[in-house]
Amino acid sequence: MHVIGAAGLASSVPAVALHTGWMDSKGFAPAPPSEDTVTPRGYATSFNNFYEFGTDKNDPAELGSRLTTEPWKVEVAGLVGKPGTYDIEDLLTGVDLEERIYRLRCVEAWSMVIPWIGFPLKTLLERFNPLGSAKYVAFTTLYRPEEMPGQRSYFSSIKYPYVEGLRLDEAYHPLAIMAVGMYGQVLPNQNGAPLRLVVPWKYGFKSIKSIVRIELTETRPRTTWNLTASNEYGFFANVNPTVHHPRWSQGSERRLPSSLFNGNRKVSTRMYNGYDEVAGLYAGMNLRLNY
Ligand code: MTE
Repeated sequence: MHVIGAAGLASSVPAVALHTGWMDSKGFAPAPPSEDTVTPRGYATSFNNFYEFGTDKNDPAELGSRLTTEPWKVEVAGLVGKPGTYDIEDLLTGVDLEERIYRLRCVEAWSMVIPWIGFPLKTLLERFNPLGSAKYVAFTTLYRPEEMPGQRSYFSSIKYPYVEGLRLDEAYHPLAIMAVGMYGQVLPNQNGAPLRLVVPWKYGFKSIKSIVRIELTETRPRTTWNLTASNEYGFFANVNPTVHHPRWSQGSERRLPSSLFNGNRKVSTRMYNGYDEVAGLYAGMNLRLNY
């Protein structure tokens, strides 16, 4: 498997202490060196999409500190043997954290390279004993307008809470992770603290932040950007340089940050964002229709 930066077993490498409360006792397995240059931390934590805090790229970093992330509970519902409301500490008990250096390709045609700390989504879902009838997993972001000013805006282009979903076989792919940290530290609020999804072969909007609800379903869940503009944003949202957004090309991307010296560094967009090992999930599907 050509996973850039997927780490081995946590027990085989030194543990590095994380910098806050409930994660202090945990270490993580560092990723092997990546073929991509990692985006500077300061950039990845100040240029964000998190509409709950506003639509400007700097709004989440400026306003995200208003969000209270402790305590944090996640409701688990639907087609599972163990539904309930779980404290995040309980969800992380016994979980080995590992670092994964992944390319993040936004549907807006920019990209970064981010060292996440997390664990396979499959590990989490299996804890709840999914029933045989479960075909999809649906995620919901926190709705707390008093701490998330974007949710109070009359001009918001999307409806809240933000919702996303995956087919269960996609969710079980080893590249799909739940992240709780980045750059060796706990996740900053603007990046989706304390728990977010990271699905590196899909456009960034699938990687839903600050998750408070997970539901296993038989039918395809509704997803925020598809509800907002279904002709522009599909359910699958796999990175695909041959299927363009109606208003711009997806053939290339700007690798951020741009600087005085490298300008707008353009790189060719790769099918599945370069993660070819997921191709089997879509065998026989028309990717032009299932965008
Ligand atoms: N999750 C929520 N709840 N709200 C959002 O607005 N934006 C998405 C995704 N997850 C978004 C979200 C988009 S469009 C992208 S590109 C990524 O988060 C950006 O993640 P980053 O800010 O950590 O780079």
